[in-house]
Amino acid sequence: MGRSVLVTGGNRGIGLSVAQAFRDAGDNVAITYRGGEAPEGFLAVKCDVTEPETVEAAFAEIEEKQGPVEVLIANAGITRDTLLLRMSEEDWSSVIETNLTGAFRVSKRAAKGMLRLRRGRIVFVSSVVGLFGGAGQVNYAASKSGMVGMARSIARELGSRGITANVVAPGFVETALTDELSDELKKQYLAQIPLGRYTSTEEVARVIRWVASDEAAYITGAVIPVDGGLGMGH
Ligand SMILES: NC(=O)c1ccc[n+]([C@@H]2O[C@H](COP(=O)([O-])OP(=O)(O)OC[C@H]3O[C@@H](n4cnc5c(N)ncnc54)[C@H](OP(=O)(O)O)[C@@H]3O)[C@@H](O)[C@H]2O)c1
Repeated sequence: MGRSVLVTGGNRGIGLSVAQAFRDAGDNVAITYRGGEAPEGFLAVKCDVTEPETVEAAFAEIEEKQGPVEVLIANAGITRDTLLLRMSEEDWSSVIETNLTGAFRVSKRAAKGMLRLRRGRIVFVSSVVGLFGGAGQVNYAASKSGMVGMARSIARELGSRGITANVVAPGFVETALTDELSDELKKQYLAQIPLGRYTSTEEVARVIRWVASDEAAYITGAVIPVDGGLGMGH
């Protein structure tokens, strides 16, 4: 019997690879999408994590169609990069609202069902930037390090109910975004990564699937880097 899994922002990028990894392992996977075409093969529910009512509607639909969410991957995220003095209130609040408050919202809602089940796995998709910092990424770094405090507090609150909460912190992932970087910038970034290469969405997805597996049942409150050594274990 597969578990009921939800991946927010599972329609593309890392989220889609995560959704595929769980599905390939035999789980029942729901993904959220905000518009356009949703990928086939998943229970696709419309949801914007900044809108509490769409979050509630998405969970109600998932509960009805595939049962309460046992595994939540809080993956939906955005960037609005710019230097501190140029960062507007809107640049700040939209990133915090999506990345941090959105993750709070979905984990709170998922925890309801997990408490009843007396088991659950919550994985927050953070970033090496959350612990390392990033010039031009004050908003993004704050949102991603905020996930660490959130996961650790949830781990303490819900551990006795068989619920784990962990953070996976990817480094540079090969996406359309990194493809567009100039060769010079790519060289600079790669020079800082001990493994000398970017990671793939699939490589990140396998770690996330593992953190949510029975094999990782005794891991909670942890930050697991998938960054080729860029953050040296942090
Ligand atoms: N790419 C990297 O190098 C990297 C490195 C470290 C960490 N990460 C983190 O990994 C996660 C996924 O990144 P990615 O590279 O796969 O990004 P991506 O390709 O830009 O995908 C982002 C996903 O989040 C969804 N999303 C954004 N805002 C949302 C909202 N308000 N409500 C619901 N869904 C929303 C998007 O949905 P739409 O399709 O509707 O826009 C999309 O599915 C993010 O949290 C990111 O910070 C990425």
